[in-house]
Amino acid sequence: MSDSPVQAARALRAGGLVILPTETVYGLAADAADAVAVAAIFEAKGRPRFNPLIAHAPDLDAARRIAVLDARAIALAEAFWPGPLTLVAPVRDPAAVCDLARAGLDTVAVRVPAHPLALEVLRLFGGPVVAPSANRSGRPSPTRFADAVEETGAFAAAAVDGGPCAVGVESSVVAVLDGPPRLLRAGGATRAEIEAVVGPLAQADDDARRSPGRLALHYAPDAPVRLEAAAPRPGEAFLAFGPSPVETAFNLSPAGDLREAAANLFAFLRAADRTRPTGIAVAPIPPEGLGEAINDRLRRAAGFVG
Ligand code: TXA
Ligand code: MG
Repeated sequence: MSDSPVQAARALRAGGLVILPTETVYGLAADAADAVAVAAIFEAKGRPRFNPLIAHAPDLDAARRIAVLDARAIALAEAFWPGPLTLVAPVRDPAAVCDLARAGLDTVAVRVPAHPLALEVLRLFGGPVVAPSANRSGRPSPTRFADAVEETGAFAAAAVDGGPCAVGVESSVVAVLDGPPRLLRAGGATRAEIEAVVGPLAQADDDARRSPGRLALHYAPDAPVRLEAAAPRPGEAFLAFGPSPVETAFNLSPAGDLREAAANLFAFLRAADRTRPTGIAVAPIPPEGLGEAINDRLRRAAGFVG
């Protein structure tokens, strides 16, 4: 059974997940501004990590309201959109694509998909929609409606049948930040096609040599992060989970709900960091379900994983 674009847009507005056809692969979509809905995507995929997601927009103007696109990015957008190219650029409106969807980064990935039903859902919905591939983590991306429904249909409030995906591999991801544009993921648009528009792409290894750490994809606060803390030490900000032993402005979920904690994680790390504490102490987070991804990101923030 397939839902209409109107039903899909309504489901997105209600905070639900939607199986969305694109020309590359089927996506599992949510309102990019709704951190709880985005947390539900990670839960549905069973992802042990929070990777930053791609925001989908119906046209270039809408994409420019999400990301700061320079002349090179606009040349790429004009050449490939709608189509299988994703641009990573500085985020313009951090509220339009929540911290969790960006994994706390100051950049955002954006693309205009070339599928009439996806474009209709995006126009009807009116805001950015994030959508990773609709498979469970570690499984192949679905390129047929039935496969998408089999993978994550149980978590979707609506599912739109757009037929088989014409491209069948994910979009190519190109970062257009400072320095030459860089291919972060090979996909539906080839390197040669991309280079024909913007000239030679930076080699990932060159880049790593010149500025180690530039490829790191995770947000790390300035303050040192201390995990599994029962309580804060003097000068530390405290990210609590569940009942807190002290007053704190940063309780990830007073009720101990992992989806709520995931939704708050990056925004609270940033907010805590902005108070210029001597450190950020984080209460223990249970390792089950979304807790695995939360703990993975916390370990990265604490510098334990590269
Ligand atoms: O074809 C596609 O792109 C599909 C369809 C559904 O649109 N979507 C998709 O999303 O493949 P996902 O979440 O599986 O892949 C997102 C990719 C990842 O490689 C991620 O690391 C990268 O985009 N990405 C997203 N935001 C980024 C950022 N701010 N900086 C660097 N890479 C980013
Ligand atoms: Mg994927």
